[in-house]
Amino acid sequence: MIINTELEQKGNTFPSKIVSYTKDVDTLVFTTENDVALQIQILRDSVLRFRYSTTGIFSPDFSYAITKYASTGYNQLEIEEAENSYIITTSKLICKVSKANLKVELYDSKDQTLINQDELGFHWEESYEFGGDIVKMSKVSQEGESYYGLGDKPNHLNLKGRRYENWVTDSYAFGKDTDPIYKAIPFYTGLINKKAYGVFFDNTFRSYFDFAQERRNVTSFWAQGGEMNYYFFYGPKMTDVVEAYTDLTGKPHQLPPLWALGFHQCKWSYYPESKVKEITSKFRELQIPCDAIYLDIDYMEGFRCFTWNKEYFPDPKRMVKELEKEGFKTVAIIDPGIKVDKDYWVYQEGLENDYFCKRADGPYMKGKVWPGECYFPDFTNPEVREWWSGLFKELIEDIGIKGVWNDMNEPAVMEVPNKTFPDDVRHDYEGNRCSHRKAHNIYGMQMARATYQGLKKFSYPKRPFVITRAAYSGTQRYTSTWTGDNVANWEHLWVANIQVQRMAMSGFSFAGSDIGGFAEQPHGELFARWIQLGVFHPFFRVHSSGHHGDQEPWTFDEDVTEIVKKFIELRYQLLPYFYTTFWHYVEKGTPMVKSLVMFDQEDSHTHYRTDEFVFGEHILGCPILEPNAKGRRMYLPRGKWYNFWTDTVVRGGKEMWVDADIDSMPIFIKEGAIVPKYPVQQYVGEKVIDEVVLDVYYKKGKEDSQFFDDSHDGYDYTKGRFCLRTFKLTGRDNQLIIQQHKEGSFETEYKKFKIQIHGLPFEITNIELDNESKPLEHLKVNGCQTIVVDESFTELDLSGKE
Ligand code: GLC
Repeated sequence: MIINTELEQKGNTFPSKIVSYTKDVDTLVFTTENDVALQIQILRDSVLRFRYSTTGIFSPDFSYAITKYASTGYNQLEIEEAENSYIITTSKLICKVSKANLKVELYDSKDQTLINQDELGFHWEESYEFGGDIVKMSKVSQEGESYYGLGDKPNHLNLKGRRYENWVTDSYAFGKDTDPIYKAIPFYTGLINKKAYGVFFDNTFRSYFDFAQERRNVTSFWAQGGEMNYYFFYGPKMTDVVEAYTDLTGKPHQLPPLWALGFHQCKWSYYPESKVKEITSKFRELQIPCDAIYLDIDYMEGFRCFTWNKEYFPDPKRMVKELEKEGFKTVAIIDPGIKVDKDYWVYQEGLENDYFCKRADGPYMKGKVWPGECYFPDFTNPEVREWWSGLFKELIEDIGIKGVWNDMNEPAVMEVPNKTFPDDVRHDYEGNRCSHRKAHNIYGMQMARATYQGLKKFSYPKRPFVITRAAYSGTQRYTSTWTGDNVANWEHLWVANIQVQRMAMSGFSFAGSDIGGFAEQPHGELFARWIQLGVFHPFFRVHSSGHHGDQEPWTFDEDVTEIVKKFIELRYQLLPYFYTTFWHYVEKGTPMVKSLVMFDQEDSHTHYRTDEFVFGEHILGCPILEPNAKGRRMYLPRGKWYNFWTDTVVRGGKEMWVDADIDSMPIFIKEGAIVPKYPVQQYVGEKVIDEVVLDVYYKKGKEDSQFFDDSHDGYDYTKGRFCLRTFKLTGRDNQLIIQQHKEGSFETEYKKFKIQIHGLPFEITNIELDNESKPLEHLKVNGCQTIVVDESFTELDLSGKE
């Protein structure tokens, strides 16, 4: 055999010993004898950035993931040179860099425990196939370490023992083990000795993560190009880690309009107009709440974006207006592929302005999608995004579409084996021109961003609503998302639950699945169980391919319709609670859905749980994932919980059986919680709400709850016109005190709270409201311990005898 020794793979190459070091304010650079440079930037006491270069020179620093609003600043930064290492100390972390080989160790600065340590550390391999380097990092996986996050991976919540790839991929009818699928979110949280840290590998090339699969004591990540560039976040609380990652990659730029948290009905496709109306009328006739109706690709003329099929929809503006009168917001799909058609204005504009992606040797990138042969805008060019956002003017401003659904933006290409563009396609990448290998994972994100910018402009003064299928880290700033083309079976219900939890711990809370399953047809029971789970998903939409039958709430038997209605009504009652949870997400990056491990990481029983989750601060849900179930075993986290349906109080920290026949689902409320509820409405804004229910769950001890409200749309809340209530509950054997503190200048339309007290262990004999004693009858105490008070009360003190 003849071997060309010149081309022989060199294999892994490693940094050698440090020969110099510089410091510039918050940035340190270590250089090795073989010209490797490690730049460590201290962003916050608990957030460090590690960047490596194999040539000693760094390329221009640019990332689509990082938001300009990210917090920076630290309290402490000390650098010390020890015999074998450099030691960087902040108020949260100690980072040691080995002089011999650039390997890094990270410790908790309070108790000096080891959090994370390089195994081989940074190394690289020259790639003859691609040119450039494959950049690699391997870290020690400690005994008992667990891993979470990584976007939409449809497998066990704990990533340990598995290997994953990040390459955004159209994945029709994906399965539990399919990888990669639609999203690339190269961020994970590690949990070791009950302490959590996070790693965000901000590299958009095809990347891989191995969580102690290949070698039991090693976790590694690598990419087929670009830089080894990662951020390290230290908790020690998991929520702190996810919040810090979300702060860096961006919280949603604004709250969604409240209607977007209502129920959405979708199908591929509702057309013509009469069909759309038939569906929306049926919702109102059956009094099943619904806020949004979707138009899939058939509303267009030959699948040409920004056009209408005039046969199916002769007067879209009128239709949208009529739907709006009934409380329906119309959401329309827009895909990236622009039909190659010389008589089509969008195609013409794109061509004239040179906005379409091209192959390396010059011709346009041509690919088949729904309309046939298409060209694709280069959304990585700011000028193209500007143009694209402008295309929404008519749809939004004139026709009155309220939301836009971006699909196929991986970008998906049909009839080619790799399902997307060839690697050589060129992209502008904000002036840092590159190939598709680098731009692929952010293409969909930039499309959603351009769409968002259009909606933001043309929906003003209302808030925009966008939904995307493809995403990279940071996409949560602009849009909501769904989990793509799932399948109507029980396993996919399990997958949907995992994916939404996983997305939430990957900084992207505004997510949901195609309820009922996109491909194939669910049985009524599966549909009902899926709706029950969907109630607790921030994005709550039924969608199906339509090839296998209908999937509206009334297409199964009457019992199913009743159950679905009951649960959608529950969603509408809980809207103020969901909205408050969303506000926490927008304010602090707090995940809306918390897996049990995130809720109580100190309890190691939670580390491998998959099904149970806590929505917001106080509501625990657990879907039924099997047919013919009358209930299920589940793990209740530590603390005391009220069964939502029966008010029975149970002590958690154990696995237990919970009854939940088909018309029920295990739901528990944390003791001490105060949960605000609206009356059932058929759509957001249907009713003038003159009274809000506060469900108060007695606890012996203290608990805080918040309730955020505003005008449910528009931007006034950013100027202080919101109403944030903090309730402090204090319970004793024969006393319950609720204090309210109000912030913000928004006047709610409701003037009363109906306080419903659950689990009170004593009989009320005395009521004091704002330090005034009130006669019992005056405050309408009745058998159900219900008290009506003015919304501005500051203290309610109930006492009595046991
Ligand atoms: C893709 C989408 C799906 C949509 C269909 C037609 O499969 O994932 O949601 O209905 O395309 O537009």
